[in-house]
Amino acid sequence: SHIAVAIDGPAASGKSTVAKTLAKRLGLIMVNTGAMYRAVAWATIQHGVDPSDSAAVVAMLDEVEFSCGVSNNLSTVLVDGVDPGDALRQDAVNSRVSKVAAIPEVRSLLVEMQRDYLKLGSVVMEGRDIGSVVFPNTPFKMYIDASEEVRRKRRAAEGIIDDPTARDKEDSKRKSSPLVVAEGAVKIDSSELGIEEVVDAALEVLRE
Ligand code: CDP
Repeated sequence: SHIAVAIDGPAASGKSTVAKTLAKRLGLIMVNTGAMYRAVAWATIQHGVDPSDSAAVVAMLDEVEFSCGVSNNLSTVLVDGVDPGDALRQDAVNSRVSKVAAIPEVRSLLVEMQRDYLKLGSVVMEGRDIGSVVFPNTPFKMYIDASEEVRRKRRAAEGIIDDPTARDKEDSKRKSSPLVVAEGAVKIDSSELGIEEVVDAALEVLRE
């Protein structure tokens, strides 16, 4: 009986902000799936594992415990009981995350944990493959986009050294669950819109 609102889109498209605002407005749990892939990338740093060596990363999944939860209606992720916090946004994680996210075993583990959130309540979940893979049957799907220029500017304004468009290129090359506009998803271009306008557009999608 719990529902899932799926929000997908490229890096720095504004989907996290929209998902957070929407979840708060509707009293739903907001799940940031990027943080889970980032947690796996962070763990490879902690354990000295080469993120391009998929066998080594898969072996690490057996050694390290990843667990997800909820705090203040926001998803949390722990690595062997530790919350990596702001370290999930560090440069070393940015440069590793697309590599671990391309590994099918990493994806199947995390997708299962993502689906488990529905046991806790209704969710707004944001990522790259939520409408296509995690919850393909939900009627509530959105794809938030923005121009490359706007996305680079947004990331720069956050003071983060990260080229989101370079990561998107790496993400789009992978065979396992590349970023796609899911069947039935409503596209919202946020390039020229403020947060409130995007949230209003998203609420409109939910009403239909
Ligand atoms: O916040 P930003 O859009 O920059 O990235 P993110 O949502 O934190 O995701 C970081 C990376 O995780 C992406 O570049 C993808 O490689 C991967 N990811 C994924 O493969 N599938 C998801 N559902 C979410 C993230």
